[in-house]
Amino acid sequence: MCGIVGATSARNITPILLEGLRRLEYRGYDSAGVAVLEGEAIEVRRAVGKVQALADALEADPLESHTGIAHTRWATHGKPTEANAHPHRSGHRLAVVHNGIIENYEALRRELKSAGFQFASETDTEVIAHLIAREMDQHDDFAKAFSHAVGHLEGAYALAAVTPSDPEALYLARMGSPLVIGISTEENYIASDPLALLQVTDRFIHLENGDLARVDRQGAHLFDLKGKELQREPERFAHEDQVANKGDYRHFMLKEIHEQPEAVANTLADKLGSHGVLTESLGPEANAILPKIENIHIIACGTSYHAGLVARYWIESISGIPVNVEVASEYRYREPVAPPNTLFIGISQSGETADTLAALRFAKENGYLQTLALCNMPGSTLVRESGLRLLTQAGIEIGVASTKAFTTQLTALYWLALALGRARGRLDKADEEKAVATLRALPRHMEVVLELEDEVKHIAEEFVDKQHALFLGRGTHYPIALEGALKLKEISYIHAEAYPAGELKHGPLALVDEDMPVVTVAPDDHLLGKLRSNLEEVRARGGQLINFIAENVDMQAGEGVINLKIPGMNDGTSPIIATLPLQLLAYHVALLKGTDVDKPRNLAKSVTVE
Ligand code: AGP
Repeated sequence: MCGIVGATSARNITPILLEGLRRLEYRGYDSAGVAVLEGEAIEVRRAVGKVQALADALEADPLESHTGIAHTRWATHGKPTEANAHPHRSGHRLAVVHNGIIENYEALRRELKSAGFQFASETDTEVIAHLIAREMDQHDDFAKAFSHAVGHLEGAYALAAVTPSDPEALYLARMGSPLVIGISTEENYIASDPLALLQVTDRFIHLENGDLARVDRQGAHLFDLKGKELQREPERFAHEDQVANKGDYRHFMLKEIHEQPEAVANTLADKLGSHGVLTESLGPEANAILPKIENIHIIACGTSYHAGLVARYWIESISGIPVNVEVASEYRYREPVAPPNTLFIGISQSGETADTLAALRFAKENGYLQTLALCNMPGSTLVRESGLRLLTQAGIEIGVASTKAFTTQLTALYWLALALGRARGRLDKADEEKAVATLRALPRHMEVVLELEDEVKHIAEEFVDKQHALFLGRGTHYPIALEGALKLKEISYIHAEAYPAGELKHGPLALVDEDMPVVTVAPDDHLLGKLRSNLEEVRARGGQLINFIAENVDMQAGEGVINLKIPGMNDGTSPIIATLPLQLLAYHVALLKGTDVDKPRNLAKSVTVE
């Protein structure tokens, strides 16, 4: 999705802006631009396509300035063209960049057009530029004009503006889309994501919804729409600066796949004692809340939703607490009913997904016992606005296709199921100790499975000329099949669907023929017998089977059947292990197809608009 960077300094800020945009590239975008102040003038350069195209434009026609803003755009209103790329100007009075969607932009555009303003783009953002200009006619002070204009906006926005009438300042407003101020000495910065600025600072002020700010070289002044001053303390950003570093790996996705054993070990570090689970990491309130929980609603999107689906099986069987799992974009527009003592769990890698945040805000006003954020970004909006926090330690995930974020979410959710089971008196000491030992062994088992990469690479060759694929699983492995299909479709663009294997003969079996690979994940559990019958149905119709199976499962290989035995699939954590070959499969198919693995078309890393 869109990204914002800005800087004010005594030195030339153009390289800082460009580097910031490069660091936001992983989020997905289709054009980029920069606006800087040069004396009384505002200079703008924009380009369609990669940030490199903007860098080339800047090399051909360089800019030197002490104050400026920059943007990567992911098109919502209007095609990805240079005219629609941000920043947008209102004459030479100001320039703005914006993330989010202005919902009343059509009415505002009509109003501004009839007042004589001329529009050069199809975007909702240009409305904001002219709106501020109109307010400048009423107010001498740019801060006042800016806040009056912001007062007219409806929808979601992270907004930054520069103006020659206050040449060392950046003006900001936040409602619904993230925005931070990066603090340094005698120069300050702004960004939609701290990652954009880790090369220049690790201290950030997080703007809250409704905050406005004026940032200059000396510091940041925060206020609300009524002009009341606000105090927000800077926080240190704990992640290492690993953004530009793929190491020896060809893609971030592959690096992140191989980082999973370490990410899982890091996630468990503060959650396991010598014999049992430690619940302190959930926050001081946790021990009082856990025994009271009678229902759980898990809300999330995409891969995080799949983690929630696995958690339902674990939490219900280990703790006996009923669990509902729903995608956030549906939940937020229903009228969900929370039975007494229901815990709301929002799962999100980024903690900035617009639909998940909207669901959290609904839950906070609708009688839930408490809210819990399961998140990889400690400073994110989801974490800041939730009552309890369960943090994963995956490190920064750059690949749009989520990998280590997912397996660390699963790890934390398995741990949560144990904590809930114990709090409800459903988990005895011996079972808790056994489960803790299983979790401790997990990183080691993951390492062994990742060594099967060459075998998976060969299997990937079967998919190169295929248009469709079917993924099957049962029980806790059905959501893993969903995740395997999502990975394959998002990075290789092969149409992939997942079904619980028992549903096959209720419809999807009609699709099965020799052109349809069918991928199955199968542990050695009580559903194996039933799964075998389902697979026979596929074989009988000429479908090609690719089975990722537990080591002790015997399945006949032969023409049209490939089996790959996966060690470590015999415990409760089997869904985590079973995910790994499916990630590797998607990666190697995408590699063979030559797609942009880390930045698949049309997708964004963090979906901050509806
Ligand atoms: C998964 O590969 C996707 N990139 C996507 O489904 C993602 O999981 C979803 O957008 C939710 O993101 P979040 O975890 O940051 O909320």
